[in-house]
Amino acid sequence: MSPTDPHEMPAELPGPVDRNLALDMVRVTEAAALAASRHVGRGDEEAADRAAARAMINAINAVEMNGRVVVGDGEEGAVPWLFAGQEVGRGQGQAVDLALDPLEGATACARGDVNVIAIVAVTERGGFLAVPDHLYMDKIAAGPDLPPGTLDLDAPPEENLARLAEARGAQVGDLVVCILDRPRHGELIGRVRAAGARIRLINDGDVSGALTTALPETGVDLYMGVGGAPEGVLAAAGLRCLGGEMQARLVAPPGGGGRLPPLPGLKDPTAKLSIQDLASGDVMCALTGITGGPALPGVRRWPGGATTHSLMMRARSRTLRTMVTRHDFSVKARPD
Ligand code: FBP
Repeated sequence: MSPTDPHEMPAELPGPVDRNLALDMVRVTEAAALAASRHVGRGDEEAADRAAARAMINAINAVEMNGRVVVGDGEEGAVPWLFAGQEVGRGQGQAVDLALDPLEGATACARGDVNVIAIVAVTERGGFLAVPDHLYMDKIAAGPDLPPGTLDLDAPPEENLARLAEARGAQVGDLVVCILDRPRHGELIGRVRAAGARIRLINDGDVSGALTTALPETGVDLYMGVGGAPEGVLAAAGLRCLGGEMQARLVAPPGGGGRLPPLPGLKDPTAKLSIQDLASGDVMCALTGITGGPALPGVRRWPGGATTHSLMMRARSRTLRTMVTRHDFSVKARPD
């Protein structure tokens, strides 16, 4: 059978995780996005976070699965729901691990800025690296079909740009690099510009930023820089589904003496991590746009309802589905 002939493709690629869970997860991210959308631009990130998390836990607990949050919305005791270690789902069905963020980009949501999403990723037990909320991660990510060894987190940025340009049959000047706009990236930004590449600076939302490298219509080729560690696991989950590449290294939080805590499942917390170290197994991922950005439009509210845009993806089949959903608030309860 030729895998290039769609008429001969198998109807399904069975995996250890029921592929329909990805569809269930879209309802979950839609619920969080609808709830958060009421708070866009209203200057209150805590209210937005609470609304999104409450909607997500309610939706996730309606899903038939025996779920365990591995990368959550915070640590137990710091947040009421969706903390790392929480058991979620109806408690029957398959045992899966979850990495999630009901409001990726809380500050951006409060400001009405772009790139805010709700996201849930699912995999087999033990498939996600359990990273605590307060750690950062140095990340490099790009889209699919790169020859092995093209990217190296430890190589100078100029070298990564040159190798990526060569792999893509492009010039460095054709490349666009997404970087979080933070003072810590001053040197990186200067070196990328000096190398001749273009930059898309983002204020927040580096999960969206990393995923755009694997969504060609966004025009972003490479993601580089230090962002949240949980966001790194979420980006890796999405990129596994899209066939992208990513490497990362945990970074101690500022003011912590530069020391990384020991982490379960990681012999050396300072080691360079592959995309598989971050998110392995039968990964599926769903995300819904809240404020919109290059990856996805945000929630559009209209009198009596709202429209959401979501992506559903599965690593095993590399299927990417886009879903546009109309929610009629005269039939189902308004999300606020
Ligand atoms: P929140 O959802 O916690 O607001 O995270 C937004 C975000 O921009 C992430 O996308 C990114 O990884 C992280 O913050 C960067 O952290 P910092 O703002 O401390 O540089």
